[in-house]
Amino acid sequence: MKSGEPTSTASRPAETDADPSLGALLRWWRERALLTQEQLADRAGLNVRTIRRLENQELRKPRATSTLLLAEALGLTDEERAILAVASRGPSRVPPKGCGRRDLPVARNVPGRPSAGAELPTEWGRVLAGLTRNGEARQRAAISIEGMAGVGKTALAVHAAHRLAPRFPDGQLFVDLRGHSRKSAPVDPGAVLTRLLGALGVPEARVPRHVDDRAALYRDVLAYRRVLIVLDDAAGEEQVRPLLPGGGNSQAIVTGRRRISGLDHVWTVPLNVLPVYDAVTLFTCTAGADRIGDAPADVLTAIVERCGLLPLAVRVAALRLRTHSTWTTRHLLDRLNTDGPTGFQAGGESVAAALDLSYLRLPADQRRAYRVLGSQTSGDFGIAAATTLLEAPTARARWLLDRLMDAHLLMEPVPFRYRFHVLVREHASAVARRYPTDSVFANPPD
Ligand SMILES: Nc1ncnc2c1ncn2[C@@H]1O[C@H](COP(=O)(O)OP(=O)(O)OP(=O)(O)O)[C@@H](O)[C@H]1O
Ligand SMILES: [Mg+2]
Repeated sequence: MKSGEPTSTASRPAETDADPSLGALLRWWRERALLTQEQLADRAGLNVRTIRRLENQELRKPRATSTLLLAEALGLTDEERAILAVASRGPSRVPPKGCGRRDLPVARNVPGRPSAGAELPTEWGRVLAGLTRNGEARQRAAISIEGMAGVGKTALAVHAAHRLAPRFPDGQLFVDLRGHSRKSAPVDPGAVLTRLLGALGVPEARVPRHVDDRAALYRDVLAYRRVLIVLDDAAGEEQVRPLLPGGGNSQAIVTGRRRISGLDHVWTVPLNVLPVYDAVTLFTCTAGADRIGDAPADVLTAIVERCGLLPLAVRVAALRLRTHSTWTTRHLLDRLNTDGPTGFQAGGESVAAALDLSYLRLPADQRRAYRVLGSQTSGDFGIAAATTLLEAPTARARWLLDRLMDAHLLMEPVPFRYRFHVLVREHASAVARRYPTDSVFANPPD
């Protein structure tokens, strides 16, 4: 039989190899399609010499367009295209052993959903609707959930990943980018790419050295598979950019305390504090029905309002009630009114600790603006008040306000009027009292 002629029983020449080469794969797919090398070249619009060199492994890195044309001509499935994309990146080993979906690892590492009240917030419905069929975010590479510390970004992203799992059968991956971590600096995106590629079945030996090449390979692998990536607690755009899928079937959910505005194909959702009803539900579910008893509705409402309707504060207050078995909800409210909820702690969580981390990420001039404005304003204020308090020209004051808004430490509820969330204001005042001039904590809090 002439070399390059299809065999009638298209066995896989590389079947016995642990990792078939690009040439072996192409030959197998061509024989499966009952094509000669000439017929494949004709169908793909390529030179027959190119096909021959590819199969003989003289040519190991075809152009991206050639790969695409070959995939079309060979009628490859999405999974096979993913394998071809990896194999086309040069000599070495092809990640999965076989060529079918069952041979690709289904990657899953999303944490469990929060147990109490997870289904409740009204706002979540809007976000989920955006991600589902015909939703606004459906066609985007990513959705970015942004908001202040403890507002429920991670809880929502995790919930969405579980709910959307059937739409992403090839995997749902969760990565903590440590944008605001007590324990470490933000994670390097190059290192994250290596980990993600590993989870997607690419062996370490095949991961390119250069970050740009790594990101390109990652996008190739994702393009033909349906994977949801949760990029939690992003430090900013630079960290996130290489980690976004490049379109196709995969999507990312990014969460972060910083505004991300410079990325294309990203649907941004600012997450707000809870409506009173949802906050009371979260409080009662977390504290437990036995601890709530027949507490008056006005006391429950007062508790969650004193918590600024912030999920983290509501949760910590509820855990506090649970651990103090002699307290009634009125006792809890008294404590909240005297001590304020920011300093409440439960299981290592506290609003003060969360806000400390936002504060510590600011440069010195913004930290000063935070302390001054947070401690000396109440309710809404305008640019004139900010200019006076900061003793700065208007343009500079405006710039500082924008930076605080970038960090979701300041809100602009109506154009050109600014306001701190009640707990943020309390935190800024406490920091200003403790560190009136020094802008950095001597010892970052644990
Ligand atoms: N709907 C909810 N149901 C149950 N728990 C919730 C809900 N929303 C938030 N929480 C809880 O509130 C706390 C704060 O939420 P989460 O960690 O998601 O906030 P975050 O916005 O991601 O904060 P950070 O900026 O610190 O990352 C968590 O303990 C979370 O489990
Ligand atoms: Mg989070």
